[in-house]
Amino acid sequence: MDPEEQQAFFPATVMPDADWWQALWPDPEGVITALGVAPGMTVLDLCCGDGYFTAALAGQVGNGAVYGVDLDAEMLAAAASTCTGPGRSTWIRGDAMDLHRLLPEAVDYCLMANTFHGVPEQTALAREIARVLKPGGLFAIVNWHARPREETPVLGQARGPRTELRMTPEQVRAVVEAAGLLPDRVVELPPYHYGALFRFPE
Ligand SMILES: C[S@@+](CC[C@H](N)C(=O)[O-])C[C@H]1O[C@@H](n2cnc3c(N)ncnc32)[C@H](O)[C@@H]1O
Repeated sequence: MDPEEQQAFFPATVMPDADWWQALWPDPEGVITALGVAPGMTVLDLCCGDGYFTAALAGQVGNGAVYGVDLDAEMLAAAASTCTGPGRSTWIRGDAMDLHRLLPEAVDYCLMANTFHGVPEQTALAREIARVLKPGGLFAIVNWHARPREETPVLGQARGPRTELRMTPEQVRAVVEAAGLLPDRVVELPPYHYGALFRFPE
């Protein structure tokens, strides 16, 4: 990977180890259902990592379609190997900040899980996402609650982003609304997360 590509990675967004990720998220399918993903949708898992939530997305959309985008080729390969389902799945390596150049079609739903906290230019990223959503399409940000890191242990160790990177739903709303997306709802994802949903105007 050349240095320019290396620099494009958002800070503090390395894929967590599978042991504690699975302990924290024992039911990824339940998360995807709670976030309102429905059969038949075309969905994008932006910064999909090793596909932990992409596989659940693929299961939920059935004969719909799934795109997984990540800058890390190894992550994409892992995601592709675990993601099965009757629908179409497409894996794209690239920088989320270039999203509208990467995707060949508009989507009904974009999920960004456990990554938004590290994005340096959050409103600019939300604008990119707005460019690839269909009218009425949804953007869901799954974030750690803004609690001190030492208060969010998993398997006996403090986990998640540094305390100062964590955002409240209100802080997320302010930066995403500035991109022209409308607040839809906030879903609790216990024990430590929430999903903040936004809608592209019809
Ligand atoms: C913390 S992991 C989260 C993975 C997955 N969403 C989950 O919740 O299980 C963040 C992922 O974002 C990817 N990433 C970081 N910066 C990126 C960028 N600028 N464009 C695309 N992917 C990026 C990393 O390679 C990593 O796989």
